[in-house]
Amino acid sequence: MDFDADVAVIGDSPLAAARDAAVPSSAYRRGAILMCAPDFFGVDYIINPWMENQVGQATLERAQAQWENLRSSLAAHSDIAFVAPTPGLPDMVFTANAGLAIGDKAVVSRFHARERRPEERLFCDWFEAQGYSIAPWPDNVAFEGAGDALIDHARNIVWCGYGWRSGEEAPRHLERIFSRRTIALKLVDPRFYHLDTCFCPLSGGWLMYYPAAFDLASQEAIRAIVPAERRIEVGEKDALSFACNAVEVAGRIFLNACSDDLRARLIDAGFTPVETPLSEFMKAGGAAKCLTLELPGAARKFTPRG
Ligand code: ARG
Repeated sequence: MDFDADVAVIGDSPLAAARDAAVPSSAYRRGAILMCAPDFFGVDYIINPWMENQVGQATLERAQAQWENLRSSLAAHSDIAFVAPTPGLPDMVFTANAGLAIGDKAVVSRFHARERRPEERLFCDWFEAQGYSIAPWPDNVAFEGAGDALIDHARNIVWCGYGWRSGEEAPRHLERIFSRRTIALKLVDPRFYHLDTCFCPLSGGWLMYYPAAFDLASQEAIRAIVPAERRIEVGEKDALSFACNAVEVAGRIFLNACSDDLRARLIDAGFTPVETPLSEFMKAGGAAKCLTLELPGAARKFTPRG
């Protein structure tokens, strides 16, 4: 999927419109990105190591400004759809965890984190309201959506992380549902608890990732599929700045921060890195990618309803 093809540049609605889950009325049919305004964002509980000692520490006003900066940067290059934020669900801003959508089919997340289970119904309602066909998912298999399942458009495959938040059986269910080869990757470092915190397939077959977040067999599987000249391996410092938690749109890579070295390597690979600081969301264990859900190839118009 190519986000820059045939996409009308709309979606420059102000924060207030996002809050009301309103989107511009023109039709947009190719790629889009789902976001959720941070009206009720905060660190209210601890479900990953980043949240430790951060309860009550996120500043809402700063979070809103950072989110708005990300939204407007993305809106210049992609359509943005919005799901309405809900009181009591501070992590709903992380729409990557809504589910996985490809074309007109979606799977809704089955959260491992009890605190986030009430989000399932809301995301399901959103997908249904947009006309997605919802594929049934087994009750006993945890799956945290595009936080753990990343589409590699260049290879037409899905990479699926498991071990912390999604179950080991998740990859094979995804493969069955979406009829795409799905590569299972075992995550072993609790700081990188979702695949999108340490792994980012890019266009042209490039891959930016932090190898030490994976067990040895998974590191090998990655190397077997992605040739050395297409691998951008990042060090721990960049990984801890959530450099891999990036959103690529039309050759631009939006990320919280990156070192000079990583920036140079991304530029060499033909990308334009764009830093959008997201410190408040990192207190909850998320950054740019977590705040977005890619909606590739949806052959429909998204409605203003949240
Ligand atoms: N506090 C949230 C959680 O632990 C952060 C989610 C980040 N999302 C992501 N796709 N990595 O669930």
